[in-house]
Amino acid sequence: MPAAALAAMLLSAPLLTLSQLPALSLLPALSLLPALSLLTVRSAAAETGIRLTPDDPAAVARGKAVYAEACASCHGVDLEGQENWRRRRPDGRLPAPPHDESGHTWHHPDAQLFALTKQGPAALVGGGYQSDMPGYDGVLTDRQILDVLSYIKSTWPERVRQQHDRINAAAAGGD
Ligand code: HEC
Repeated sequence: MPAAALAAMLLSAPLLTLSQLPALSLLPALSLLPALSLLTVRSAAAETGIRLTPDDPAAVARGKAVYAEACASCHGVDLEGQENWRRRRPDGRLPAPPHDESGHTWHHPDAQLFALTKQGPAALVGGGYQSDMPGYDGVLTDRQILDVLSYIKSTWPERVRQQHDRINAAAAGGD
């Protein structure tokens, strides 16, 4: 599968279905791409306990500062994303999606959000896929990545947060 098609699946609206499935039953085609190891991400989450803490005020406050500095320029000061974020630009790249409930950030379990931020979409998707978003490995600490994602989750309405908790539980094989 071309990287762009995979990326579209990984990063666009139909993602809801994708991330609600346990990692093992993701479309078999995904496993053809060595760079995209959701399984690794999944077991890493189980092993290292990657867990967002949107109810921890200190983590959320730290994350808010990280967001303003590192993410807001693309994802928007109010997490609103860029215009027409579902439409690829002529150069083939996607605009930055919103991180509020109108986007699909909340469709990804914690470990995928962490990997997306740490490795960056290009490395995660592989196959020469190009993204404006860099990986933050070496730029932000793991703690800062967890903080900023916890901040993002803390802004979602309760209903969306609960939905995201269920996605996490499904990804962890908990149901
Ligand atoms: C230079 C612009 C830019 C910056 C800065 C940036 N991003 Fe992104 N981000 C993007 C783009 C563009 C995408 C869409 C993915 C793609 O390129 O295919 C994206 C996608 C994402 C996604 C996946 C969302 C989804 O709905 O699938 C997450 C999570 C994310 N970014 C988190 C962050 C965090 C956290 C920061 C700050 C630490 C950040 N980004 C900084 C441009 C940026």
